[in-house]
Amino acid sequence: MDARFRTAVLLLVGLSWACGSPASGCRPRIPPHDQVARVARFVAHQCDWASMATISTHKPVVGQPFANVFSVSDGAPGTSSGVPYMYLTRMEISVQDLQVNPQASLTMSLAQTDYCRQQGFDPQSPLCAHIILSGSVMEVNGTEAEFAKKSLFSRHPEMMDWPTDHNWFFAKFNVTKVWVLDYFGGVKTVTPEEYFQATPFRKHN
Ligand SMILES: *[C@@H]1O[C@H](CO)[C@@H](O)[C@H](O)[C@H]1NC(C)=O
Ligand SMILES: *[C@@H]1O[C@H](CO)[C@@H](O)[C@H](O)[C@H]1NC(C)=O
Repeated sequence: MDARFRTAVLLLVGLSWACGSPASGCRPRIPPHDQVARVARFVAHQCDWASMATISTHKPVVGQPFANVFSVSDGAPGTSSGVPYMYLTRMEISVQDLQVNPQASLTMSLAQTDYCRQQGFDPQSPLCAHIILSGSVMEVNGTEAEFAKKSLFSRHPEMMDWPTDHNWFFAKFNVTKVWVLDYFGGVKTVTPEEYFQATPFRKHN
C-alpha cells in the first residue's frame, strides 16, 4: 500500500473508532482534506483560542513579528460564522500594536483539541490540520458586538468576570486570506468568499 493511502485508511479507521468509542462521545468529524474551505471552517470553529501575530511596537523588537495567545470564538458550539471574535483591552501589549497597525495573522490548529493526539499526529504534521488567517483586527459594535458577546461568553464564561476598568471591547478578525495545512503537498489557500460559503459540518440525513 502507498504510504499516503495507508495513512488515509488509518485516519478513517481511527475516526470511526473515535466516534464509536462510548467514552469519547461522538465529536464532529473533520471534513475530507480536499474540501479545503470546509476544513478551514471546521478548524476555526473547533478552536477556542488562537495565536495572533502582530507587528510589534515595543522595544527592543519594534517592527518584528510578535505572537501572543487570544481566546476566540466564531460562534457558540454548533453555530459557526467563520469570523473569529475576540474580547480585547487597549491595555494589552498586542492590542497596542494593533492600534498602530491593525494587520495581523491568526493561527489555529486541531493540536488544540484531542484530535491530533488521538490520531497520533504531531502538531507540525499537515495531517494535524491547522490554518493561518491573514487580515486585520477591527472593533465591532451594534448587533455584531451582540453576536460576538454571545459567541465568546458561551465558550469563555470567565470573560464575564474580567475587570471592568480594563474597558474591554469586542473585535473581529477581518479575514483577507486563508492558508490551510491539512494534508501532504504543501499549503493550500482559500479566498474569504470560499471560506465563508463553506459549511464546517457534515449534513445529517
Ligand atoms: C461602530 O463601528 C463603526 C466601524 O467600526 C464606527 O464607524 C462607528 O462609529 C461605531 N459606532 C459606535 C456607536 O460606536
Ligand atoms: C477587511 O479588509 C479588507 C482588506 O484590507 C478591506 O478592504 C475591507 O474593507 C475590510 N473589511 C471591513 C469590514 O472593513
